[in-house]
Amino acid sequence: METMQAMEAILTRRSTRRMKPEVPAREVIEQVIEAGRCAPSGSNSQGTHMIVITDKKVLSELAAIVQDAFAAMEVGPDVYVSLRNSVNASKKGGYVFHYGAPVLIVTANRKGYGNAIADSACALENMMIAANALDLGSCWINQLHWLDENETVHTYMEGLGLGKDETITGGLILGYGIDGKPVRTPLERTGNPVTWVEGRE
Ligand SMILES: Cc1cc2nc3c(=O)[nH]c(=O)nc-3n(C[C@H](O)[C@H](O)[C@H](O)COP(=O)(O)O)c2cc1C
Repeated sequence: METMQAMEAILTRRSTRRMKPEVPAREVIEQVIEAGRCAPSGSNSQGTHMIVITDKKVLSELAAIVQDAFAAMEVGPDVYVSLRNSVNASKKGGYVFHYGAPVLIVTANRKGYGNAIADSACALENMMIAANALDLGSCWINQLHWLDENETVHTYMEGLGLGKDETITGGLILGYGIDGKPVRTPLERTGNPVTWVEGRE
């Protein structure tokens, strides 16, 4: 399969949440990870740690831990909508934060490092674009970041290779879309305003 041109891969990337259960071939996942590893980082620190999970038991244990953690949480009306949605869904029970995707990549970086989230965001976006170019669906998944200070979550993640001195910065899911293709339906962009300052003579 010929990979897409860079601009096409960027402009057609959308979040894919419904995926086939099959784990993509290791070489394909590795290409996505390599795109993440090649992302820029503050002072070239290259500190983004990517924990790649394809183990079904681990994925379902994580889903259960996240479900319980959110179910035990009380949030006020001013909390941002996506966190409130996670809490509300978990209170109903059976909340699966990673949508049952076959691959979850969790990003982490050194606690206290000021560019931790910025560096991870660069790596995650590189991976999402690479995934699209390779006909894989992906979606940023933030619940483990929100639960970074939850002891049960951190300890479980430490068992998977997260450092005690690391903070969870984000993550993504990866897999083939339910119809074999990633979501590529255009989404109208009405936000992200642009201000130009040009020569005024
Ligand atoms: C920082 C960040 C956090 C996000 N967290 C989640 C998440 O936890 N779960 C989810 O389903 N989508 C998540 N998303 C995906 C957004 O909902 C999505 O990018 C947005 O609705 C625009 O749609 P598009 O990605 O298809 O262009 C996140 C995106 C970003 C950039």
